[in-house]
Amino acid sequence: MCGIVGAVSGRNVLGVLLQGLQRLEYRGYDSCGVAVWQDGTLRTSRSTARVADLARQIDASGLHALTGIAHTRWATHGAPSTANAHPHVSPDTARPRIALVHNGIIENHDSLRAELQAAGYRFDSQTDTEVIAHLIDRLYDGDLFDAVEQAVRRLRGAYALAVLCRDEPHRIVGARSGSPLVVGLSDGECFLASDAMALAGVTDRIAYLRDGDIVDIGLAGWHVHDRDGQRRERPVQTVKILAGSTDLGPYRHFMQKEIFEQPQALADTLEGVEGIVPELFGDGAWRTFDQIDRLLILGCGTSYYAGLVGKYWIELLARIPVTVEIASEYRYRPSIPDPRTLVVTISQSGETADTLAALLHARNLGQPHTLTICNVESSAMVRESTLAYITRAGIEIGVASTKAFTTQLAALFLLALTLAQARGTLDDDALAAHLQAMRHLPRAIQGALALEPQLIAWAEQFAARDHALFLGRGLHLPIAQEGALKLKEISYIHAEAYPAGELKHGPLALVTDAMPVVTVAPTDELLAKLESNMQEVRARGGRLFVLTDADSRFDSADGVQVIRLPEHHGLLSPIVFTVPLQLLAYHAAIVRGTDIDKPRNLAKSVTVE
Ligand code: F6R
Repeated sequence: MCGIVGAVSGRNVLGVLLQGLQRLEYRGYDSCGVAVWQDGTLRTSRSTARVADLARQIDASGLHALTGIAHTRWATHGAPSTANAHPHVSPDTARPRIALVHNGIIENHDSLRAELQAAGYRFDSQTDTEVIAHLIDRLYDGDLFDAVEQAVRRLRGAYALAVLCRDEPHRIVGARSGSPLVVGLSDGECFLASDAMALAGVTDRIAYLRDGDIVDIGLAGWHVHDRDGQRRERPVQTVKILAGSTDLGPYRHFMQKEIFEQPQALADTLEGVEGIVPELFGDGAWRTFDQIDRLLILGCGTSYYAGLVGKYWIELLARIPVTVEIASEYRYRPSIPDPRTLVVTISQSGETADTLAALLHARNLGQPHTLTICNVESSAMVRESTLAYITRAGIEIGVASTKAFTTQLAALFLLALTLAQARGTLDDDALAAHLQAMRHLPRAIQGALALEPQLIAWAEQFAARDHALFLGRGLHLPIAQEGALKLKEISYIHAEAYPAGELKHGPLALVTDAMPVVTVAPTDELLAKLESNMQEVRARGGRLFVLTDADSRFDSADGVQVIRLPEHHGLLSPIVFTVPLQLLAYHAAIVRGTDIDKPRNLAKSVTVE
């Protein structure tokens, strides 16, 4: 998704700008660009190629500047093209006065465009962003801060902005509402970025702007106005920026690397967990756990599926009712608030627009107890929640979430154990046994990774198909759903997941010998039921691909292929069964030759609605 970097310094800032864009690259983008103030003019360079190509273009043009802004764009309004790439400038002449980059979506861009066209502005792009550049130029009367402050009052929608003015060197004005923006500080230098990660290696002194803030950065320092034009202080924190290794090492893709990093990611996530205590989730968590009598879990995509597994564990072990909702639905639904609900948001990035908005919505409805399970400590969701559990998956670059998901599951299992302890539904021996089983997880995952050759053989058969069905029951239904999501998003094979018991209520009509049916079939109390669902598939000539436990009674037969997973603790099996499904999707995508780490139309961090 779109990324912003801005810098004002006594040194050439192009290195900082390009390095910042490179750090944001993994989130997905389709064009990029920079604008700098150089010798009294605004100079821009834009490209629909990678940031490395933009860097070569800049090198060749000899740009050198002390003030500049930069952007990676993920198209929303207007196709990916150089004309639509940011920065946008105004007026559209040889000597523009304003240059600007924008993350977010402006909802009233049509009416503003009509007004600005009537005032004589010519538009070069199909973007909503160009409207803001012209609006600021129109309102400009010698003070960029003033012009931006007036302009944002006319915008409806979400934005993070960084704006340069030809007539005011060494100054950038930023603004945010609904999209993140941070200020980075270093000696005699000031930066803006949509994510602190863009400034890794440059500074770790970060101030997080609040919604409605407008910020003025320059060589002499920075200041902020809130939405009402009042001067405000925003605390500067020293943050641990999740940079991590962005080297592929021996792997072909980041997704493959991240699948194989799962044993370590789980071990890291559990490191320091010496016992089941509320403080795992933050200071004072015991008080919160004492004051709640239900949970509402919110997330999107893969993180939502983690929530569904979490519900099962929490209701089983702690006997507390849990509702799980897709964040983008919850935020617009007239729900019934309950102050005794713990609102749990789950997010790899901690910046997903819908989940963040759902969290704020829940709080505004009068639900004060909030907990975020997140992989990025410095993210907006962690900052906005009273409690947090930080998974230690390390940076996840592949767009398809893998190690973030399995570490979210580990965090949810710990939450279930902690709530069970608080409620007295599990005694100390049972808690210790569950924790011990968790420590065995990295080894069980290693065993699941060793199944790769068998999954390659399955993937070769899947790659020739256009559709696939995934079946699961109970605790493993969300794992079947996650398996289907992985397959569709990276191999582009249409895949659907169903509770196996629903098969005969509709989807069975689709089953033929051209429809592979993946069944997540651990040895549990639902196995007998699942077996009869599998018979229904076989009777229609459907081809079954069964993932089951080491001690299972299933055997491969005509039309039935079986893979057995290594031994593991029964309740933790969703984590173990996830791994073969990731490998199946990955290898099906390899055979089909798709862009695995950057699947078409998708972005890593979905910071717009
Ligand atoms: C799928 C995937 C997405 C994300 C979703 C939420 O592989 O990665 O479905 O899970 O966009 O993202 P986060 O977890 O960052 O809130």
